[in-house]
Amino acid sequence: MPQPRRGLNLLLSATGAAFGAWIASRLIRQRRLDSDPLYFADKVVLITGASKGIGEALAYALAARGACLVLAARSEDKLQAVAAECRSRGAPDVLVVPTDISEEPALQNLTHRALEHFAHVDILINNAGYQRGGALDQVGSEAVYQQITVNLIGGMLLTQLLLPDMLARGSGHIVNISSIIGRYAFPYATSYGASKFGMVGFNESLRRELYGTGINVTLINPTFTETDIMSDIKEVVRKSILRIDSVETVAQRTLEAIQLNEVEITLDPIMQVSGWLSAIAPRLSDLAFRVLTPPGVAEAAAGQHE
Ligand SMILES: NC(=O)c1ccc[n+]([C@@H]2O[C@H](COP(=O)([O-])OP(=O)(O)OC[C@H]3O[C@@H](n4cnc5c(N)ncnc54)[C@H](OP(=O)(O)O)[C@@H]3O)[C@@H](O)[C@H]2O)c1
Repeated sequence: MPQPRRGLNLLLSATGAAFGAWIASRLIRQRRLDSDPLYFADKVVLITGASKGIGEALAYALAARGACLVLAARSEDKLQAVAAECRSRGAPDVLVVPTDISEEPALQNLTHRALEHFAHVDILINNAGYQRGGALDQVGSEAVYQQITVNLIGGMLLTQLLLPDMLARGSGHIVNISSIIGRYAFPYATSYGASKFGMVGFNESLRRELYGTGINVTLINPTFTETDIMSDIKEVVRKSILRIDSVETVAQRTLEAIQLNEVEITLDPIMQVSGWLSAIAPRLSDLAFRVLTPPGVAEAAAGQHE
Protein backbone atom coordinates (compact mmCIF):
# COMPACT_ATOMS: atom_id res chain seq x y z
CA MET A 1 0.00 0.00 0.00
CA PRO A 2 1.38 3.48 -0.87
CA GLN A 3 2.66 5.44 2.16
CA PRO A 4 0.11 8.36 2.07
CA ARG A 5 -2.80 5.91 1.91
CA ARG A 6 -1.46 3.92 4.86
CA GLY A 7 -1.04 7.13 6.85
CA LEU A 8 -4.60 8.16 6.06
CA ASN A 9 -5.94 4.74 7.11
CA LEU A 10 -4.03 4.94 10.37
CA LEU A 11 -5.37 8.41 11.05
CA LEU A 12 -8.96 7.30 10.32
CA SER A 13 -8.58 4.24 12.59
CA ALA A 14 -7.16 6.35 15.42
CA THR A 15 -9.96 8.92 15.04
CA GLY A 16 -12.59 6.15 14.98
CA ALA A 17 -11.10 4.52 18.09
CA ALA A 18 -10.96 7.84 19.95
CA PHE A 19 -14.55 8.63 18.99
CA GLY A 20 -15.67 5.13 20.06
CA ALA A 21 -13.88 5.50 23.40
CA TRP A 22 -15.51 8.91 23.92
CA ILE A 23 -19.01 7.52 23.17
CA ALA A 24 -18.37 4.56 25.52
CA SER A 25 -17.19 6.86 28.33
CA ARG A 26 -20.30 9.06 27.90
CA LEU A 27 -22.57 6.00 28.08
CA ILE A 28 -20.83 4.67 31.20
CA ARG A 29 -21.04 8.12 32.77
CA GLN A 30 -24.77 8.39 32.06
CA ARG A 31 -25.32 4.89 33.40
CA ARG A 32 -23.58 5.80 36.65
CA LEU A 33 -25.77 8.91 36.94
CA ASP A 34 -28.98 6.97 36.19
CA SER A 35 -28.06 4.19 38.64
CA ASP A 36 -28.71 6.46 41.64
CA PRO A 37 -31.61 8.82 40.87
CA LEU A 38 -32.13 9.47 44.60
CA TYR A 39 -28.51 10.51 45.22
CA PHE A 40 -29.49 13.98 46.52
CA ALA A 41 -32.72 12.98 48.28
CA ASP A 42 -32.74 14.25 51.88
CA LYS A 43 -29.09 15.33 51.68
CA VAL A 44 -28.50 18.68 53.40
CA VAL A 45 -26.90 21.15 51.00
CA LEU A 46 -25.69 24.60 52.02
CA ILE A 47 -25.38 27.05 49.11
CA THR A 48 -23.82 30.50 49.44
CA GLY A 49 -24.89 33.12 46.92
CA ALA A 50 -28.27 31.40 46.60
CA SER A 51 -30.35 34.55 46.06
CA LYS A 52 -29.82 34.70 42.28
CA GLY A 53 -27.79 33.46 39.31
CA ILE A 54 -25.97 30.14 39.51
CA GLY A 55 -26.72 29.68 43.23
CA GLU A 56 -30.45 30.11 42.64
CA ALA A 57 -30.36 27.58 39.76
CA LEU A 58 -28.45 25.13 41.96
CA ALA A 59 -31.11 25.50 44.66
CA TYR A 60 -33.92 24.70 42.18
CA ALA A 61 -32.06 21.73 40.66
CA LEU A 62 -31.37 20.30 44.14
CA ALA A 63 -34.92 20.97 45.32
CA ALA A 64 -36.27 18.99 42.37
CA ARG A 65 -34.06 16.07 43.49
CA GLY A 66 -35.42 16.17 47.04
CA ALA A 67 -32.49 17.82 48.84
CA CYS A 68 -32.89 19.83 52.05
CA LEU A 69 -31.40 23.28 51.63
CA VAL A 70 -29.65 26.01 53.58
CA LEU A 71 -29.72 29.19 51.48
CA ALA A 72 -27.31 32.02 52.25
CA ALA A 73 -26.71 35.47 50.70
CA ARG A 74 -27.25 39.05 51.83
CA SER A 75 -30.70 39.72 50.30
CA GLU A 76 -33.25 38.14 52.61
CA ASP A 77 -36.30 38.96 50.46
CA LYS A 78 -34.76 37.28 47.41
CA LEU A 79 -33.70 34.27 49.50
CA GLN A 80 -37.24 33.89 50.85
CA ALA A 81 -38.63 33.95 47.30
CA VAL A 82 -36.07 31.30 46.20
CA ALA A 83 -36.91 29.21 49.29
CA ALA A 84 -40.66 29.31 48.48
CA GLU A 85 -39.94 28.17 44.93
CA CYS A 86 -37.65 25.38 46.24
CA ARG A 87 -40.41 24.09 48.52
CA SER A 88 -42.86 24.06 45.62
CA ARG A 89 -40.33 22.13 43.53
CA GLY A 90 -39.94 19.38 46.13
CA ALA A 91 -37.37 20.41 48.76
CA PRO A 92 -38.51 18.78 52.05
CA ASP A 93 -37.02 21.52 54.23
CA VAL A 94 -35.42 24.88 53.43
CA LEU A 95 -33.61 27.18 55.86
CA VAL A 96 -32.87 30.79 54.92
CA VAL A 97 -29.96 32.47 56.69
CA PRO A 98 -29.20 36.03 55.52
CA THR A 99 -25.41 36.21 55.51
CA ASP A 100 -22.71 38.60 54.40
CA ILE A 101 -19.95 36.14 53.62
CA SER A 102 -17.28 38.78 54.17
CA GLU A 103 -18.10 38.95 57.90
CA GLU A 104 -16.78 36.18 60.14
CA PRO A 105 -19.53 36.44 62.81
CA ALA A 106 -22.12 36.05 60.03
CA LEU A 107 -20.36 32.85 58.89
CA GLN A 108 -20.35 31.56 62.49
CA ASN A 109 -24.07 32.32 62.72
CA LEU A 110 -24.71 30.53 59.38
CA THR A 111 -22.84 27.43 60.57
CA HIS A 112 -24.59 27.46 63.93
CA ARG A 113 -28.07 27.88 62.39
CA ALA A 114 -27.47 25.14 59.78
CA LEU A 115 -26.17 22.60 62.32
CA GLU A 116 -28.83 23.52 64.87
CA HIS A 117 -31.61 23.04 62.31
CA PHE A 118 -30.37 20.01 60.35
CA ALA A 119 -27.74 18.53 62.75
CA HIS A 120 -25.27 18.20 59.87
CA VAL A 121 -24.41 19.47 56.37
CA ASP A 122 -23.69 16.89 53.67
CA ILE A 123 -22.66 19.23 50.87
CA LEU A 124 -21.26 22.77 51.05
CA ILE A 125 -21.31 24.76 47.81
CA ASN A 126 -19.04 27.83 48.04
CA ASN A 127 -20.64 29.85 45.27
CA ALA A 128 -21.09 33.47 46.49
CA GLY A 129 -19.03 35.94 44.52
CA TYR A 130 -19.00 39.03 42.38
CA GLN A 131 -16.73 40.65 39.84
CA ARG A 132 -15.47 44.20 39.95
CA GLY A 133 -13.37 45.04 36.91
CA GLY A 134 -10.94 47.85 36.29
CA ALA A 135 -7.25 48.58 35.82
CA LEU A 136 -5.29 47.79 39.00
CA ASP A 137 -3.97 51.34 39.36
CA GLN A 138 -7.54 52.69 39.21
CA VAL A 139 -9.64 50.47 41.45
CA GLY A 140 -8.40 51.39 44.94
CA SER A 141 -7.31 49.18 47.82
CA GLU A 142 -10.76 48.63 49.35
CA ALA A 143 -12.00 47.06 46.10
CA VAL A 144 -9.05 44.65 46.16
CA TYR A 145 -9.60 43.61 49.79
CA GLN A 146 -13.35 43.17 49.34
CA GLN A 147 -13.05 41.11 46.15
CA ILE A 148 -10.62 38.64 47.74
CA THR A 149 -12.59 38.54 51.01
CA VAL A 150 -15.94 37.72 49.41
CA ASN A 151 -14.77 35.45 46.59
CA LEU A 152 -12.08 33.51 48.44
CA ILE A 153 -11.73 34.04 52.18
CA GLY A 154 -15.46 33.78 52.91
CA GLY A 155 -15.64 30.29 51.38
CA MET A 156 -12.41 29.22 53.08
CA LEU A 157 -13.64 30.30 56.53
CA LEU A 158 -17.05 28.72 56.04
CA THR A 159 -15.36 25.45 55.03
CA GLN A 160 -13.15 25.71 58.12
CA LEU A 161 -16.25 26.10 60.30
CA LEU A 162 -18.12 23.14 58.79
CA LEU A 163 -15.16 20.76 58.50
CA PRO A 164 -15.03 19.54 62.13
CA ASP A 165 -18.55 18.14 61.85
CA MET A 166 -17.83 16.53 58.47
CA LEU A 167 -14.56 15.04 59.78
CA ALA A 168 -16.34 13.66 62.84
CA ARG A 169 -18.90 11.98 60.59
CA GLY A 170 -16.30 10.86 58.05
CA SER A 171 -18.34 12.14 55.12
CA GLY A 172 -19.16 15.33 53.26
CA HIS A 173 -18.56 17.13 49.99
CA ILE A 174 -17.03 20.59 49.53
CA VAL A 175 -17.80 22.17 46.17
CA ASN A 176 -15.94 25.31 45.15
CA ILE A 177 -17.32 27.43 42.32
CA SER A 178 -14.25 29.08 40.85
CA SER A 179 -14.16 30.16 37.19
CA ILE A 180 -12.14 29.58 34.07
CA ILE A 181 -10.60 32.90 35.17
CA GLY A 182 -8.99 30.76 37.92
CA ARG A 183 -7.04 28.97 35.19
CA TYR A 184 -6.83 31.70 32.54
CA ALA A 185 -6.96 35.30 33.70
CA PHE A 186 -8.31 38.23 31.70
CA PRO A 187 -6.81 41.73 31.93
CA TYR A 188 -8.64 44.36 34.00
CA ALA A 189 -9.73 41.64 36.41
CA THR A 190 -6.67 41.32 38.66
CA SER A 191 -8.56 41.03 41.95
CA TYR A 192 -11.18 38.71 40.50
CA GLY A 193 -8.45 36.62 38.82
CA ALA A 194 -6.46 36.48 42.06
CA SER A 195 -9.55 35.40 44.02
CA LYS A 196 -10.38 32.66 41.52
CA PHE A 197 -6.77 31.41 41.16
CA GLY A 198 -6.74 31.45 44.97
CA MET A 199 -9.81 29.29 45.05
CA VAL A 200 -8.18 26.79 42.68
CA GLY A 201 -5.19 26.56 45.06
CA PHE A 202 -7.44 26.31 48.11
CA ASN A 203 -9.45 23.56 46.43
CA GLU A 204 -6.39 21.55 45.36
CA SER A 205 -4.67 21.79 48.72
CA LEU A 206 -7.84 20.87 50.59
CA ARG A 207 -8.52 17.91 48.28
CA ARG A 208 -5.08 16.46 49.04
CA GLU A 209 -5.38 17.32 52.74
CA LEU A 210 -8.70 15.50 53.04
CA TYR A 211 -7.66 12.40 51.12
CA GLY A 212 -8.87 9.31 52.96
CA THR A 213 -11.19 11.21 55.34
CA GLY A 214 -14.38 10.42 53.40
CA ILE A 215 -14.81 14.07 52.44
CA ASN A 216 -14.83 14.84 48.72
CA VAL A 217 -13.71 18.10 47.14
CA THR A 218 -14.80 19.29 43.69
CA LEU A 219 -13.84 22.37 41.67
CA ILE A 220 -16.30 23.87 39.18
CA ASN A 221 -15.05 26.34 36.57
CA PRO A 222 -17.99 27.95 34.83
CA THR A 223 -17.12 30.05 31.81
CA PHE A 224 -19.41 32.84 30.64
CA THR A 225 -22.80 32.27 32.22
CA GLU A 226 -26.00 34.24 31.72
CA THR A 227 -26.19 36.12 35.07
CA ASP A 228 -25.92 39.68 36.36
CA ILE A 229 -22.13 39.22 36.70
CA MET A 230 -21.64 39.45 32.96
CA SER A 231 -24.27 42.03 32.11
CA ASP A 232 -21.61 44.54 30.99
CA ILE A 233 -19.76 42.16 28.66
CA LYS A 234 -22.59 39.98 27.36
CA GLU A 235 -23.00 41.73 24.02
CA VAL A 236 -19.27 41.60 23.26
CA VAL A 237 -18.98 37.92 24.20
CA ARG A 238 -21.99 37.09 22.01
CA LYS A 239 -20.00 38.28 18.99
CA SER A 240 -17.11 35.93 19.80
CA ILE A 241 -16.69 32.16 19.43
CA LEU A 242 -16.97 31.78 23.20
CA ARG A 243 -20.22 30.33 24.41
CA ILE A 244 -22.52 31.67 27.08
CA ASP A 245 -24.03 28.97 29.29
CA SER A 246 -27.39 29.14 30.97
CA VAL A 247 -27.49 28.90 34.77
CA GLU A 248 -29.44 25.65 34.37
CA THR A 249 -26.55 24.11 32.39
CA VAL A 250 -24.03 25.09 35.08
CA ALA A 251 -26.31 23.72 37.82
CA GLN A 252 -26.88 20.45 35.96
CA ARG A 253 -23.14 19.92 35.31
CA THR A 254 -22.35 20.78 38.94
CA LEU A 255 -24.80 18.22 40.28
CA GLU A 256 -23.38 15.57 37.93
CA ALA A 257 -19.85 16.42 39.10
CA ILE A 258 -20.90 16.05 42.74
CA GLN A 259 -22.68 12.74 42.16
CA LEU A 260 -19.73 11.32 40.19
CA ASN A 261 -17.21 12.85 42.61
CA GLU A 262 -15.34 14.54 39.76
CA VAL A 263 -12.20 16.43 40.77
CA GLU A 264 -12.69 19.40 38.43
CA ILE A 265 -14.90 20.42 35.56
CA THR A 266 -14.59 23.32 33.13
CA LEU A 267 -17.70 24.03 31.14
CA ASP A 268 -16.32 25.46 27.88
CA PRO A 269 -13.73 23.25 26.11
CA ILE A 270 -12.22 26.25 24.29
CA MET A 271 -11.53 27.99 27.59
CA GLN A 272 -10.24 24.76 29.08
CA VAL A 273 -7.64 24.46 26.31
CA SER A 274 -6.80 28.16 26.82
CA GLY A 275 -6.12 27.41 30.49
CA TRP A 276 -3.79 24.53 29.61
CA LEU A 277 -1.96 26.68 27.04
CA SER A 278 -1.55 29.44 29.61
CA ALA A 279 0.09 26.98 32.05
CA ILE A 280 2.36 25.35 29.46
CA ALA A 281 3.30 28.27 27.20
CA PRO A 282 2.38 31.60 28.85
CA ARG A 283 3.94 33.88 26.22
CA LEU A 284 2.25 32.03 23.38
CA SER A 285 -0.97 32.29 25.37
CA ASP A 286 -0.49 36.09 25.72
CA LEU A 287 -0.02 36.33 21.96
CA ALA A 288 -3.11 34.19 21.32
CA PHE A 289 -5.09 36.43 23.68
CA ARG A 290 -4.05 39.58 21.82
CA VAL A 291 -4.79 38.09 18.42
CA LEU A 292 -7.96 36.12 19.17
CA THR A 293 -9.85 38.06 21.85
CA PRO A 294 -12.65 40.01 20.24
CA PRO A 295 -12.13 43.76 20.42
CA GLY A 296 -13.84 45.29 23.41
CA VAL A 297 -13.92 42.28 25.78
CA ALA A 298 -11.12 43.51 28.04
CA GLU A 299 -12.34 47.12 27.85
CA ALA A 300 -15.90 46.06 28.70
CA ALA A 301 -14.55 44.04 31.63
CA ALA A 302 -12.78 47.19 32.81
CA GLY A 303 -16.18 48.81 33.24
CA GLN A 304 -17.62 45.89 35.20
CA HIS A 305 -18.87 46.54 38.66
CA GLU A 306 -20.87 44.64 41.27
N1 LIG B 1 -21.68 34.37 35.54
C1 LIG B 1 -20.51 34.03 35.08
O1 LIG B 1 -20.18 34.28 33.90
C2 LIG B 1 -19.54 33.29 35.97
C3 LIG B 1 -18.44 32.68 35.35
C4 LIG B 1 -17.54 32.00 36.14
C5 LIG B 1 -17.71 31.92 37.51
N2 LIG B 1 -18.78 32.52 38.09
C6 LIG B 1 -18.89 32.42 39.56
O2 LIG B 1 -20.16 31.88 39.92
C7 LIG B 1 -20.52 32.36 41.21
C8 LIG B 1 -21.95 32.88 41.16
O3 LIG B 1 -21.99 34.00 40.30
P1 LIG B 1 -23.26 34.40 39.44
O4 LIG B 1 -22.81 34.52 38.04
O5 LIG B 1 -24.39 33.52 39.76
O6 LIG B 1 -23.48 35.88 39.98
P2 LIG B 1 -24.79 36.64 40.52
O7 LIG B 1 -25.97 36.27 39.73
O8 LIG B 1 -24.38 38.05 40.64
O9 LIG B 1 -24.95 36.00 42.00
C9 LIG B 1 -23.97 36.21 42.97
C10 LIG B 1 -24.47 35.67 44.29
O10 LIG B 1 -23.47 35.91 45.29
C11 LIG B 1 -24.08 36.58 46.38
N3 LIG B 1 -23.13 37.45 47.07
C12 LIG B 1 -22.41 38.48 46.55
N4 LIG B 1 -21.71 39.10 47.52
C13 LIG B 1 -22.01 38.45 48.67
C14 LIG B 1 -21.63 38.63 50.03
N5 LIG B 1 -20.79 39.61 50.42
N6 LIG B 1 -22.12 37.78 50.95
C15 LIG B 1 -22.98 36.80 50.60
N7 LIG B 1 -23.37 36.58 49.34
C16 LIG B 1 -22.91 37.41 48.39
C17 LIG B 1 -25.24 37.36 45.78
O11 LIG B 1 -26.26 37.56 46.75
P3 LIG B 1 -26.53 38.95 47.51
O12 LIG B 1 -26.23 40.06 46.59
O13 LIG B 1 -27.97 38.83 47.92
O14 LIG B 1 -25.62 38.90 48.70
C18 LIG B 1 -25.74 36.35 44.76
O15 LIG B 1 -26.60 35.41 45.36
C19 LIG B 1 -19.50 33.44 41.58
O16 LIG B 1 -18.54 32.91 42.46
C20 LIG B 1 -18.86 33.79 40.24
O17 LIG B 1 -17.55 34.27 40.40
C21 LIG B 1 -19.71 33.19 37.35
